[in-house]
Amino acid sequence: MVGLPARGKTYVARKILRYLNWLGHPARLFNVGNYRREHVGSLQAHGFFDPSNQEGVRQRTLMALMALEDMLGWFEAGGEVAIYDATNSTHERRKLIQDKCEARGVRVIFIESSCDDATVEANVRATKLDSPDYVGVDSDVAVADFRARIEHYAQVYEPVDESEGSYIKLIDVGQKVIVNRITGYLPSRLVSFLVNLHNVPRPVWLTRHGQAEFNVIERIGGNTHLSAPGRAYAENLKRFYDERIAPYGEVEVWTSTLVRTQETAEILGKQTLQWRALNEIEAGSCDGLTYREIKERYPEDWRARCGDKLSYRYPQGESYMDVIQRVEPVVLELERQKRPVLIISHQAVLRAIYGYLMGHELERIPHLDVPLHTVLEFAPKAYGAAEQQFLLGPALPPHTGSSS
Ligand code: F6P
Repeated sequence: MVGLPARGKTYVARKILRYLNWLGHPARLFNVGNYRREHVGSLQAHGFFDPSNQEGVRQRTLMALMALEDMLGWFEAGGEVAIYDATNSTHERRKLIQDKCEARGVRVIFIESSCDDATVEANVRATKLDSPDYVGVDSDVAVADFRARIEHYAQVYEPVDESEGSYIKLIDVGQKVIVNRITGYLPSRLVSFLVNLHNVPRPVWLTRHGQAEFNVIERIGGNTHLSAPGRAYAENLKRFYDERIAPYGEVEVWTSTLVRTQETAEILGKQTLQWRALNEIEAGSCDGLTYREIKERYPEDWRARCGDKLSYRYPQGESYMDVIQRVEPVVLELERQKRPVLIISHQAVLRAIYGYLMGHELERIPHLDVPLHTVLEFAPKAYGAAEQQFLLGPALPPHTGSSS
């Protein structure tokens, strides 16, 4: 990452981290500020960041090198992508990073973030006042100190230029993106992710369809209609929508192409977007069976699935990892969308999206709790989201829904 303080670097870095890990590319964040806080101490007044403060420069360089060495060590241990989160604001510092990385066969892409004064001001208030650097400090004093810190960095700041190789410049959080010498699968995915990012806060709601006829008889997959309790849930959802969702104004409602999600959405009386990518995990030869039947007819598959639910792929069907790849365009659209979004989909698919929204480890995703007749709400926070569950009912017998 490259950029003056309060340019949203950590916000972008954490988003990239979550996205790559979710796609199955082991990624880790190395935040040099955290090294400073741990080894030098937080509560450093702005003078510490003054480029003419030699002791400050020495200690900051030491921290940057320590983080860099840990990062390179992590690559040697099998890491795929590291995000080195610091201002990295001079050619000299970036050259050092590049030389050290290249010597170990690690490719560098600089992601430089710049933004207008209003965004900087909003960032300072949204993220810096809660920083461990300002615990117990009056908020006006903290803001003034942070502004002085930014000024120190601004004195020596050198934007990334053509001679520095691969870079992505993010200007005003997605308003403009400049891409230089980016090739290859993962760097290209990164670009399409970054062009969709913005910082307009809006909630997202996830719900499964109302109980379907196959849920009643504990069969997986299929394309059945809602049961009577399922229809009652659709009505409860309509009430919840009117009371809690509609006040946000224009809301996007997305469903799968299967009957049960469409019947759940119908009663809302809203135009919906139907995504095939939101259809339930494809259970292949096991589609339409109960878990008991799967266990009896395909004991080895059952064992394999219990052993590794994330990677297990149904015969002629999908695994959770397949579902994640399939749902990725939905997640990109979710990032791009500035309106609130209600997604009515299915258990496995919603687990994948839930895992993305909350940054859960991949291994946890197939086991996340996404019960029927419940709405999950994700309200935006400075970094990430706050989650709330609304059990709308009707309540169902405990067996309904899941194998885990
Ligand atoms: O049982 C409902 C259902 O949506 C099935 O269609 C699907 O196969 C299953 O949930 C996914 O959950 P699990 O991965 O726990 O079997």
